[in-house]
Amino acid sequence: MPIQVKICDIPDDVARAAASKIAALIRQKPDAVLGLATGSTPVRTYAELVQMNREGLSFSRLTTFNLDEYWGLDGGHPQSYRYFMNHTFFDGTDIQLWNTHVPNGMAVDADLECRAFETGIRACGGVDLWLLGIGRNGHIAFNEPGCAPDSRTRLVDLTESTIAANSRFFERVEDVPKQALTAGIATICDARRILLLATGKDKARAIARAVQGVPHPSCPASFLQTHSDCTFILDREAASVVSD
Ligand code: PGA
Repeated sequence: MPIQVKICDIPDDVARAAASKIAALIRQKPDAVLGLATGSTPVRTYAELVQMNREGLSFSRLTTFNLDEYWGLDGGHPQSYRYFMNHTFFDGTDIQLWNTHVPNGMAVDADLECRAFETGIRACGGVDLWLLGIGRNGHIAFNEPGCAPDSRTRLVDLTESTIAANSRFFERVEDVPKQALTAGIATICDARRILLLATGKDKARAIARAVQGVPHPSCPASFLQTHSDCTFILDREAASVVSD
């Protein structure tokens, strides 16, 4: 099934369009299971959703699962993805924190933690909609080029380019964790719907490969073409290399 592409003028429109799709799902299914992402791209979408929650759309029955977490960072660490989610989204809403799941980067046993994460998703009936970003190299979550389409939640080594890209959030590049727990491609593709957001010129090549290239491990996001209900919401810059 081809990926559906919606092109918006500016990043704020991407956020509004994404938030309105998520809000429509929540209205229709107040106990929906959402898959969520960190990164700079979804921040405006979360701000829109926080506003909708303030205006009366309840999130109190939602369950959420996040894509990934740095291995070795505690949820109280300002660069952990748990901290990011609490501060950027959850704390501003009536989401019940005990219904939010971010892989535990301090788990004693990574394999057990990964299996528990997958079991947790299944126990909730599966993810209704997974919100994603994309890396400049086509990664989704920490599924870097070379990953398998049947990959599941696991501990992975971060690539040098991802460590370099993420070092902007840390004092020193040496402080960036070298490993992470990440949902796999198959974990993500099990979701009933997928919504990927991208803005800016530096994502344009990855987007074109993901949408129009043959699905291949060299661009993990290209595996989303195998999903039956996947939409990319892009601004004009991110869509600039996609041909008609
Ligand atoms: P970004 O990250 O939203 O900060 O660009 C996306 C990603 O690397 O998946």
